[in-house]
Amino acid sequence: MKMILYILIAAVVLSVISGSLHLWKVAKKNAQEMAPFAEQKPQHLDKNKKILVIYYSLTGHTKDIAERIKAQTNADLYAIKLKQPLPTGLLAYYQIWKQYKDNSFPEVNGTIPDLSGYDLVILGSPVWMYTASTPMQSFLKEADFNKKPVTIYSTQGSNPGTFFADMQKAAKNANIISEIEFNNLPKKYDEAVNVKINQWLEQTLAKVK
Ligand SMILES: Cc1cc2nc3c(=O)[nH]c(=O)nc-3n(C[C@H](O)[C@H](O)[C@H](O)COP(=O)(O)O)c2cc1C
Repeated sequence: MKMILYILIAAVVLSVISGSLHLWKVAKKNAQEMAPFAEQKPQHLDKNKKILVIYYSLTGHTKDIAERIKAQTNADLYAIKLKQPLPTGLLAYYQIWKQYKDNSFPEVNGTIPDLSGYDLVILGSPVWMYTASTPMQSFLKEADFNKKPVTIYSTQGSNPGTFFADMQKAAKNANIISEIEFNNLPKKYDEAVNVKINQWLEQTLAKVK
């Protein structure tokens, strides 16, 4: 009995140590990645191009990036909604895990937006289970990008897995001209994130005729 207790305590201690080590490594990598952006200012972007951001967000990070894009470009925003919205918290993890396991993706609510008036479409989704969120995947089953220039962003803890390859496969007839990933970051990086968005969009818009 004592032996089992020692093994359990050792397992808990080891998992706390490895979790803390992982968080420390991610924080260090984030600091290195964001340092160059922190030293710069956002440049003025071409506001003549019509941009639509199509995003799904469960807990607000992907929405936050969409709103920052809007602030810099006047883009229109389209939030993907579900017929049966997901819960938040632990229950969400269970439902989402089940959706991938059973390949039973949720039904999206509303009609696919008309893309014809836009010069650029931006697709934003959280990474779930190392791939695109199920609501974004459901949306992409119904959408056709008709050779439109598209850029993709992810939001994530730290590991996008096969997110971008899976999005590329799922976005029918999209002319994907760039991609970018955003780790969830503490508030102190807010301005640096704006610069990162600014440089990504400047480079992307330069490719849009
Ligand atoms: C069910 C679930 C699975 C997740 N899987 C991953 C993952 O594989 N890799 C990762 O880096 N982050 C993962 N995350 C963290 C989210 O990608 C991250 O918090 C994201 O910014 C959430 O976006 P939102 O706030 O717009 O919903 C996961 C989150 C949830 C809820």
